[in-house]
Amino acid sequence: MSMRVLITGGAGFIGVHLANQLVRRGAAVRVLDDLSSGDPASLSPSVNFNRGDVRDVPKLWSLLQGVDVVFHLAARVSVPASVLYPREYNDVNVGGTVALLEACRDVGVKRVVLASSATVYGDQPSWPITEDMPPNPAVPYAVSKLAAERYLFTIGRLSGFETVALRIFNAYGPGQPLPPTHAPVIPLFMQQIIGRGSVIIFGDGRQTRDFVYIDDVVDALITAATASNIDQEVINVGSGQETSLLQLVDTICSVVNAHANVIENSEASGGIRHLVADLTKARQLLKYKPRTQLVDGLRKFYEQDARFGARAHAGKALVG
Ligand SMILES: NC(=O)c1ccc[n+]([C@@H]2O[C@H](COP(=O)([O-])OP(=O)(O)OC[C@H]3O[C@@H](n4cnc5c(N)ncnc54)[C@H](O)[C@@H]3O)[C@@H](O)[C@H]2O)c1
Repeated sequence: MSMRVLITGGAGFIGVHLANQLVRRGAAVRVLDDLSSGDPASLSPSVNFNRGDVRDVPKLWSLLQGVDVVFHLAARVSVPASVLYPREYNDVNVGGTVALLEACRDVGVKRVVLASSATVYGDQPSWPITEDMPPNPAVPYAVSKLAAERYLFTIGRLSGFETVALRIFNAYGPGQPLPPTHAPVIPLFMQQIIGRGSVIIFGDGRQTRDFVYIDDVVDALITAATASNIDQEVINVGSGQETSLLQLVDTICSVVNAHANVIENSEASGGIRHLVADLTKARQLLKYKPRTQLVDGLRKFYEQDARFGARAHAGKALVG
């Protein structure tokens, strides 16, 4: 693959996996990341890493020279944090997207792939969710991703470059950040269950999500860089499997061989009731087929991530 790419947010969870996979496939990879949450330590040494803000247009002008495809991943990504800091989410997720698109127009990039989010759907009357359902964003993060999509398609169409937005459902896998507040459910539950702590579930635990393993997300992103007939399209990227939070806890328990003490906080909102992807469009346009079942993905996460794997090995040493 002789492609030259820029990944914004390329030191984050999805970005590192994407960058390293692109390097393995022979692409020339540049990364721009302000390290507000990312960490470049796991990037392949072949990646050209640049620290900076995605709103810095002059910096983008120079980083975009010779680039064929941009993967736009830089964003603030926490739903609850966006409720507290909507201005910040608008500044980075919307302002950063517009700055990037202006620079892409100026330099003459061929295609921009946006990492959008399933949260733009909000609650829908039926599921699995297809791309033609009217967006119903319920939190500032979701609004910012929807606005980013609209700017993407508008500026791309006006400026003559190709654009595609992947609406990623709940991605998980090794290296996923576990911040002290607003942590994503899978690494959080895994840590709590391994540590014999209590697992607190907001709502009744019967809300469902579509957990998609990182390798499947990366495959979809890379295909979106080169597939034909996807200009101006939004495409779901999930596993297509619906899992309730209670089922998720059970599955993690079976993988890490531990018991969970679940506390349901039914006073708190569990968020969107059902989020599961219909993958018909992804199959048609990207030949996308998720390869990793939840139980297998959780096992890989547990075994490969040093934060959990170290414990697993220590445990095995003790037993035998
Ligand atoms: N992880 C998921 O389940 C998921 C689901 C749907 C969509 N997405 C989208 O995928 C993208 C990547 O998500 P992730 O899970 O890897 O999150 P992440 O927080 O690990 O990665 C985001 C990266 O963007 C960087 N960043 C933030 N603000 C920046 C700025 N102003 N300038 C430059 N870099 C900046 C951060 O330092 C971080 O490395 C995001 O756009 C997110 O909205 C993720």
